[in-house]
Amino acid sequence: MTLSQREGLGCLQLEREDRLFALEESHQPFELDPCTLASMGHQSFGGRVTSRCTAHPKIDPESGELHFFAYSPDGPCSPSMLYGVMDTRCEVTQLQSFTAPYASMVHDFMVTRGHVLFPVTPLTLSVERAMRGKPLLAWDASLRTHVGVMQRGSAADTLRWFQTDACHMFHVMNAWDDGDTIVAYVMQSETAPGLPDAEGRPGAPEAMAARLCRWTFHLADAGTGFRRDYLDDLAAEFPRIDERYTGRRNRYGFTTCHATSRARGDSESVLYNSLARFDFDTGERSIHTLPHGDVVSEPVFVPRADDAAEGDGWLLAVAWREREKRSDLLVFDAMGLPAGPVAVARLPHRVPFGFHGTWRPSV
Ligand SMILES: [Fe+2]
Repeated sequence: MTLSQREGLGCLQLEREDRLFALEESHQPFELDPCTLASMGHQSFGGRVTSRCTAHPKIDPESGELHFFAYSPDGPCSPSMLYGVMDTRCEVTQLQSFTAPYASMVHDFMVTRGHVLFPVTPLTLSVERAMRGKPLLAWDASLRTHVGVMQRGSAADTLRWFQTDACHMFHVMNAWDDGDTIVAYVMQSETAPGLPDAEGRPGAPEAMAARLCRWTFHLADAGTGFRRDYLDDLAAEFPRIDERYTGRRNRYGFTTCHATSRARGDSESVLYNSLARFDFDTGERSIHTLPHGDVVSEPVFVPRADDAAEGDGWLLAVAWREREKRSDLLVFDAMGLPAGPVAVARLPHRVPFGFHGTWRPSV
């Protein structure tokens, strides 16, 4: 297997039909040769994607359709947004734009079997504010969080905006339809991690700590039908699932986390020392904590076989061994996380912390 996906702060590589793309939310997709990794340049997909593009597209596991979006596609700090779909041949089959309630840095979104959801949190972008010497990108607590919901295949003018008190999430674990509700598991924090308020003041570390949270949207009531319930007390991030269940109810989820409950003081840190597996059927949470001083990046699930049961497979994560100044690739049995890695690939050098990836068969 070879690593084919990489993410820093919002950038990753996506393999699709023997094509490989590096994604980062401020730019067009950048194509690489899937064998040599030689640069092939930015791609517009027939002139259809000429703006920035999310680093968190969603692939429907049944149709193979890839759903993507962009914030401010028509210029810096614009409240406009773009939504598109491409087929398995990278042909753009849908593309439409709409106006969000305000200009926000939107890092991730949700796609279910029947719906697409666009979270807009008060992580605002404002040139006018920057011209006053304040932050261009800031948490504006005077605003509410909005989520735009529409049926897949519908026109963007059918978007219905659900509102709630200001809260933030960078990453979605998964979302699915459940009768006349939509359920999403997200990593929610009270304010945006690592970013100042609109006056440039730093935020409270505890408010920046993301925790696993269930968002429920009652489709019959866009006014009050948005409910939020924290599911766990660990400061955690970088959620992944068995991606054969993208947009379908998932039993298992995986995150990085701090081993102690609700980290304080340093809770804005992304230097997570543990991995967690959640079983949403039983409510069980299992954890593996690395040796003291080591930290770990996003866990990537690889099924044991194409027809393996959900969660039956391997969890791969890169650890940073701070004392030795190098990295290791850790391989866990995803069902036996607390037992520790079943294999360790010793790397002779450092992999930049924050490295994320997915895996594909070697060529
Ligand atoms: Fe991300």
